Amino acid sequence: MIDIPRNIAVFGAGYIGLVTGACFAQLGHRVVVRDIQPERIRMLHSGEVPFFEPGLGDLIAQNKERLSFTLDAREALRDAEAVYVCVDTPPTASGDADLSRIWSVVDALEATSPLVAVVVKSTVPVGTGARVRAALDEAGLGHVGYASNPEFTAEGRAVEDFLHPDRVVIGASDEATAHWVRDLYDGIGAPVEIMDVASAEMVKLASNALLATKITFINEIAAVCEATGADIRRVSRAVGMDHRLGPHFLHAGLGYGGSCFPKDTRALRAMASNSGYPFQLLNAVIEVNELQPRRAVQRLKEELGGLRGRRVALLGLTFKPGTDDMREAPSAVIASRLLAEGAEVTGWDPMGRPGPVEPWTSVTRHASPLEAVTGADAAIVVTEWPELRAADWPTAARRMRRPLLFDGRNLLDPATLSQAGFTYMSVGRAT
Ligand code: UGA
Repeated sequence: MIDIPRNIAVFGAGYIGLVTGACFAQLGHRVVVRDIQPERIRMLHSGEVPFFEPGLGDLIAQNKERLSFTLDAREALRDAEAVYVCVDTPPTASGDADLSRIWSVVDALEATSPLVAVVVKSTVPVGTGARVRAALDEAGLGHVGYASNPEFTAEGRAVEDFLHPDRVVIGASDEATAHWVRDLYDGIGAPVEIMDVASAEMVKLASNALLATKITFINEIAAVCEATGADIRRVSRAVGMDHRLGPHFLHAGLGYGGSCFPKDTRALRAMASNSGYPFQLLNAVIEVNELQPRRAVQRLKEELGGLRGRRVALLGLTFKPGTDDMREAPSAVIASRLLAEGAEVTGWDPMGRPGPVEPWTSVTRHASPLEAVTGADAAIVVTEWPELRAADWPTAARRMRRPLLFDGRNLLDPATLSQAGFTYMSVGRAT
């Protein structure tokens, strides 16, 4: 437990805000989480979590005494010593981050509260902190410290990542604020990197861009493997054994998705371009990633000799397993391309709930992989849900019109699938 419990107001009850609030409460702080969506707050008041995140519901329940939720900004701010800004910063049409929600929080701050520090956790362009600082000064809040404290939590393991991070990054313009924010993390045994605000903002964007680049690099190596007879799984494994490269994010697939990498890479590209530097490598990463799902559809089309009138089952729809998040999922691009080519599309996912929008209104959803593939000419493993490893593939092969399986995540064992009667295609292997 923490030595000095603080009063923290967290603005934004999304993935980042709720995880931040619940974890700070777990460390011993008193936390009020504020959101503008009444439905979200109603759910939280009745003990429900508005989205799936392992361990988060339990953590909220365990810390009920120190954790509350409100729609009212004033109530959240009344006793707050720290304001954590965890609102979303969605992309505008040009790829720039829309910071309007951050400004609404700053506008709500008042000189009368016992505020010590305003801390931004939302991902923002470099330079945002300096602008917030100037706005605070103008609002008579010159005595309040400012810090950037980016988050590095991945969906599906966010609680674990928050409580056991590789590092905590704090950017502040003065040492006192940096140390005050650092003390909020007492009890977390991770290195704390203290730096200036602009550098902290850049660490977040650079980390996500480098991870996205690593994935894209291995996806391109996979394409060359397909053409030359090498096996990407063996290549990735042995490349990752070099400690300078590391084994993570070398899993070839259908491209990265989610609410972070696509948005943050575009935001960094836009920011670099606005500052006069065209970020060519990142531009290539974004373009290559957008091509990944399209390439998969093209390969399937060639294998089937056309897609018109074919039925294709998509197995897994979320952007990765262990989450119900459908944002920027490669499955949406694949479904759209297949439909545009005249195919009929079915789908299965244990958690994803696609909204009533295209392409999902044209995709027939099924409760099990077996139902989804029945009568299909091909099935594509789009998301590596563990359930698919345990699926009854021999029965699936018999129920399909044509037993063709495109393993877009290299999840399954080619020999097992061949024995089950499938023609097996995958990523980064000649077979
Ligand atoms: C990512 C980062 O991993 C977090 O550190 C960061 O805090 C977060 O974004 C954020 O900015 O909020 P997340 O988007 O939840 O987290 O998901 P990841 O697990 O990183 O996966 C991203 C995408 O890359 C997924 O579509 C996944 O399938 C894909 N991926 C990942 C691969 O295709 N290959 C890999 O080897 C790894």
